[in-house]
Amino acid sequence: MTELTDRFNRKHEYLRISLTDNCNLNCIYCSPIGSCIPKTEKKDILTYEEIIRIVNLFAVAGFKKFRFTGGEPLLRRDVLALFEKLSELRKKYKFELLITTNGILLHDKIDKLMEYGVERLNISLDSLKSDNFIKINGSKDYLQIVIDNIEQAIAADIKIKINTVIIRGINETELIDFCDFSIKYSVNVRFIEFMPFSSNNWNKEQFISSAEMREIISAKYLLKRLDQDLSTSDNYLIEGTGGMIGFINPISDHFCSSCNRLRISSDSNLKLCLFSESSGSINFKKMINQNYTDSQMLDIISAALQNKESEHSAITNSKLLLNNEMLNIGG
Ligand code: GTP
Ligand code: 5AD
Repeated sequence: MTELTDRFNRKHEYLRISLTDNCNLNCIYCSPIGSCIPKTEKKDILTYEEIIRIVNLFAVAGFKKFRFTGGEPLLRRDVLALFEKLSELRKKYKFELLITTNGILLHDKIDKLMEYGVERLNISLDSLKSDNFIKINGSKDYLQIVIDNIEQAIAADIKIKINTVIIRGINETELIDFCDFSIKYSVNVRFIEFMPFSSNNWNKEQFISSAEMREIISAKYLLKRLDQDLSTSDNYLIEGTGGMIGFINPISDHFCSSCNRLRISSDSNLKLCLFSESSGSINFKKMINQNYTDSQMLDIISAALQNKESEHSAITNSKLLLNNEMLNIGG
């Protein structure tokens, strides 16, 4: 079996696939209204058959975790048909099948997703107040729909985490409310540092570090740090409650040394790092159209992986990266 290990001995076993760059939100940290991010052409989007082939190929290489992202992945037409097919592969290779979603379209899909072996959902929710929801997510007020769907997911017993991007001047005033939300629902809420991408107008005045977030929360709650695992977040119990929060600190304290992730963007390009240039030199659609065998594709991926850097350069430079858009990378 070809394992995908880089020159820093990081074994890669987590693949994130962006199913689409369509989204039903226009979040200010991702694709603010007016950002004019070029759309992936239909001919460049992987078909379900191609996705199955790619997942199979990575599963053979020992990948244990496949996460589907977007844009908004649940906008892909007939998306449940994809997960039904993936569930067959999952039975064979026993990998984790995961989705990151904004939760708006979940209501009629939870049961089927569970039946197909989707074990966990990460749901983005950046505000618990309608006016802030609209301001951050650039959309109409979907807040109650998302909360209803979170409640439905909890009732169905699917494991969920909430992802909350904190932006100074907008929703740092809601940190305590989100802790209360974590306590009320016994769910893990993860606060994410605002990261710069090519078209999201990032600026340091709006950035707030996880250390400062912790300080704000500590004025009300005692936090007990949990042992670190390989996850992206630094997790804490809210003492004396059933709540748990996490901090994802890609800017103030990156976690590159434990990176085990590869990504495929919505235009089917391999991406070695969230903050690496997308040269487009390894394109799955092209390789498949040119009749590469699985083993040829694996050799190409393995060779490319040897160019992965030990860590990305200062993320605050990444605004300068061309075409580095969260919308088609999927986080
Ligand atoms: P778990 O399986 O629950 O640990 O999920 P995850 O954190 O890997 O996935 P999710 O899609 O929920 O991502 C949460 C946040 O972490 C998003 O903002 C991602 O952009 C960010 N993130 C995930 N992987 C990386 C990474 O390799 N580098 C950086 N800088 N950020 C990442
Ligand atoms: N900074 C931090 N997190 C972001 N996400 C999207 N854009 C950004 C950004 N600029 C998060 C979303 C989603 C996850 C995939 O990435 O909230 O939960």
